[in-house]
Amino acid sequence: MSDRKVSISDPQTGKQIDCDVFEATHGSPAIDISKIHAGTGCYTYDPGYGMTASCRSKITFIDGAKGELLHRGYSIEDLTENSSYLEVCYLLLNGELPSDQGLTEFEGIIRNHTMVHENIRSFFDGFRYDAHPMAMLSTTVAALASFYHDSTDVNNPEHRKITAHRLIAKMPTLAAMCYKFHRGQPFMYPQNNLGYVENFLHMMFGVPAEEYVPSPTAVKALETMLILHADHEQNASTSTVRLAGSSGANPFASISAGIASLWGPAHGGANEAVMNMLDAIVESGESIESTIARAKDKNDPFRLMGFGHRVYKNFDPRARCIEKICHDLLNELGGDQPLFELARELEQKTLADDYFQERKLYPNVDFYSGIIMRALGIPMNMFTVMFAMARTVGWIAHWSEMHEDPEFRIGRPRQLYVGAARRPYPSK
Ligand code: CMC
Repeated sequence: MSDRKVSISDPQTGKQIDCDVFEATHGSPAIDISKIHAGTGCYTYDPGYGMTASCRSKITFIDGAKGELLHRGYSIEDLTENSSYLEVCYLLLNGELPSDQGLTEFEGIIRNHTMVHENIRSFFDGFRYDAHPMAMLSTTVAALASFYHDSTDVNNPEHRKITAHRLIAKMPTLAAMCYKFHRGQPFMYPQNNLGYVENFLHMMFGVPAEEYVPSPTAVKALETMLILHADHEQNASTSTVRLAGSSGANPFASISAGIASLWGPAHGGANEAVMNMLDAIVESGESIESTIARAKDKNDPFRLMGFGHRVYKNFDPRARCIEKICHDLLNELGGDQPLFELARELEQKTLADDYFQERKLYPNVDFYSGIIMRALGIPMNMFTVMFAMARTVGWIAHWSEMHEDPEFRIGRPRQLYVGAARRPYPSK
């Protein structure tokens, strides 16, 4: 119940219903339409759920107009400046930043779970030599469910907690295995004396034959990338995890569904699409002006990858943070400086263009993240895997929140049926 009401009336039938309005801490309030069908006989129609709040959440807030991103109330700028990725994981899962002792304990718990069951290796034997790492990741994450029968009771808070820790800990191990399979190199076991990011780089780029020591700039850049991708409220993959999990499906299967959703080029696959686009511009020698003209041409399906966002109608704050680390990383490690310059020129010319200004299309997080990953030596087909690794904490935090919510019920959207009317079956 709330004090504020909105009336929805249908002049044709004369039916009217008063709907509660629920206030938000920040951002738009939401009209409770759960009784709308009973009151008016109508459903609401909202393709892509752009105007529908599907849940109450305390995890992340985005102000798309201001270009603001908050996790549990803390700005993404403050978090990237002051926190480690595991600190942000703790915050997303628990609602508060950890004390020093709490963080040490949490790091220890995550460290305890970094290994995967030895039989997971056999799954990789079944993949073709050129399998996409996202296909391998979604499969092996789903397969984890078959190893933890003791802790997949979704109604048990302790089970939910250990599953969250397992997923955060094992995701870098699985991600690195996907890469190693592709390279034909031996899988590297985790080394638990290393930090979360160093350990991942060790499993990715280390080989048994020699010691691998990552550059501190690379570690810092990757740590920042993980924080920037850790959560983004009810995006497609997170909503997929919630919807899959709403049936009571086990968390590994639900996260695997989220990975599948993330794979699409309009979501997590966009950074790969950005690099393909920039490479194609370099290879073809096409001018930036002509590239922009193609993006604006309604008869051409081409869109500028890395531009536009469903929620941000101003700068994506993650893109600003990333642009800065892009500079630092390219200065130290070299990397693809000409591609970075091309990206900057494309960005500047696009921002000055009326079409993009009118539609409020700004660079999003993916516009620069591909350049950073390339500088780190991460191949393009692993980009979305990196995103999945970072986002796992967001997915599992939302999945846990859903199971704690007293209003939680299975997700079951309605539809506006516009198919054939009932008709007789043709006689034979
Ligand atoms: N290039 C050219 N035109 C665009 C672009 C673009 N990248 N994005 C949107 N538009 C135009 C679109 O054609 C439409 O024009 P009009 O009003 O004349 O028909 C208008 O802008 C609104 O676009 P929309 O498709 O209704 O917007 P949306 O909110 O449904 O789509 C989007 C958001 C991100 C899918 C879209 O902007 C896009 O396809 N961008 C390129 C892919 C990309 O970078 N995706 C990464 C998203 S951020 C990562 C994440 O959080 O997962």
